Amino acid sequence: METEQSTVLYEAVAGDISSLIRSGTLAPGERVPSVRRLSRQRGVSVSTVVQAYRVLEDRGLIEARPQSGYYVRPQQRVLQEPSVSAPPRTPQLVGVHALVSRVLESAQATGMVPLGTAIPYAELVPTAKLRRILTDVARRMPDTIATYSLPPGRDELRRQIALRARDYGVRLEANEVVVTNGCVEAVNLCLRAVAKPGDVVALESPTYFGLLQIIESLGMKALEVPTHPRSGISLDALELAIERQRVKACLLMPTVSNPLGSTMSEAAKNRLVKMLADRGVPLIEDAVYSALHFGPVQPRAAKAYDRAGNVLLCSSFTKTLAPGLRVGWVAPGRYFEKVQMLKFISSVGVSDLLQVTIASFLENGGYDRLLRTLRKTYESQVRLFTQAVSRYFPAGTKVTRPTGGYVLWVEMPGGTDALELYERALAERISLSPGQMFSASNRYRNCLRLNCGIPWSQQTEDVLRRVGELAAECVRPGFS
Ligand SMILES: Cc1ncc(COP(=O)(O)O)c(C=O)c1O
Repeated sequence: METEQSTVLYEAVAGDISSLIRSGTLAPGERVPSVRRLSRQRGVSVSTVVQAYRVLEDRGLIEARPQSGYYVRPQQRVLQEPSVSAPPRTPQLVGVHALVSRVLESAQATGMVPLGTAIPYAELVPTAKLRRILTDVARRMPDTIATYSLPPGRDELRRQIALRARDYGVRLEANEVVVTNGCVEAVNLCLRAVAKPGDVVALESPTYFGLLQIIESLGMKALEVPTHPRSGISLDALELAIERQRVKACLLMPTVSNPLGSTMSEAAKNRLVKMLADRGVPLIEDAVYSALHFGPVQPRAAKAYDRAGNVLLCSSFTKTLAPGLRVGWVAPGRYFEKVQMLKFISSVGVSDLLQVTIASFLENGGYDRLLRTLRKTYESQVRLFTQAVSRYFPAGTKVTRPTGGYVLWVEMPGGTDALELYERALAERISLSPGQMFSASNRYRNCLRLNCGIPWSQQTEDVLRRVGELAAECVRPGFS
């Protein structure tokens, strides 16, 4: 059990060693004092020093070499960020599903290292607590099993979601919320509520392939809009696009986008919401990663600026609490009735048993503490993966600086064929997500999305080193 005093002690030891490294007194490649020696020198316990060295390893400052001790890590290259994207200006019919399902299926094979799929850190899913709550609900409330669950969903869960909406800077009443089967269903219902086949939907570029698949399945067209890897969609480009053609809806991730990890500023969100309301274009806001923002407070959602009921806010508990329970929600603004009706005709309700289980966890299961742990863990994971990409990927590679979440977008040198890299990695039981999955126009052929939700270990580092080597072999001069 960690006490406050022990934390202060190991942080102090870690701080001293990192000062020595930063000042160059301990040079890259040099051995740092052994655990026993430092423990004697500082008059602290061996476990305090071990803990301090673990922290320094997590921060990428030192590395353990088996049977030899700890060494200062070699200097890092600092990789550039990708530039603002430049997708085509015309709407496209989408055809990503075949590639996406091939990649997702191959990722499921046993023994595969899941570097492509964005799956949460399994150790942090509170399965034991959820199992206890679920059993208790099933025993106390047999009706949750014996009767139909109907939309818009259970009051106790909708109340918890309305309370949590404050974290998004949004005032919501429980009766403004529809419970869904995950965020994907929420987005699907919203798109069907506001647009029809053939209509044009504006998106960030690159964007999450699941959103493209929904557009594809509904026969709509995707208009990819230039997007900055840190600050999100270009509002000037979006405005111009809306002036040029009839855009029926915008489907965006203004806070912690996938795959870029971008977050729009509050001012940009305000401008976005006003611009779309003035033009009568609804905004479907996918906020599934918002709670995993790395900043001290969760940024406000675009919905916080909505005065006209024009923003349909979608999210879920799949990325933070229980991926397998598939409980999500939407606050559809003035499209409430339509979304509720569509929910009913597509899949009736969401299991009452699961809804009450999630509601009970939100009420007294320590969700805020869990979120703090997730953010801290993912921030450190993203840092470690970024360092490994810097170390092992070919010269000229660029990488995002995500504002939250657990994916990295890696842009390899222009001639790299990410599909070839995907095939070659697959043969070595490593699954990757090639960039083409994230575009309606077959862009990003030299890009990859990396899942940083895999616990860090020597094996993880070895896998990233191998992917870097394969990437170097997939660079084809003249191919771009
Ligand atoms: C941006 C985004 N939206 C939605 C989803 C899917 O959410 P859910 O599992 O809650 O349906 C994902 C999953 O990766 C995602 O990245």
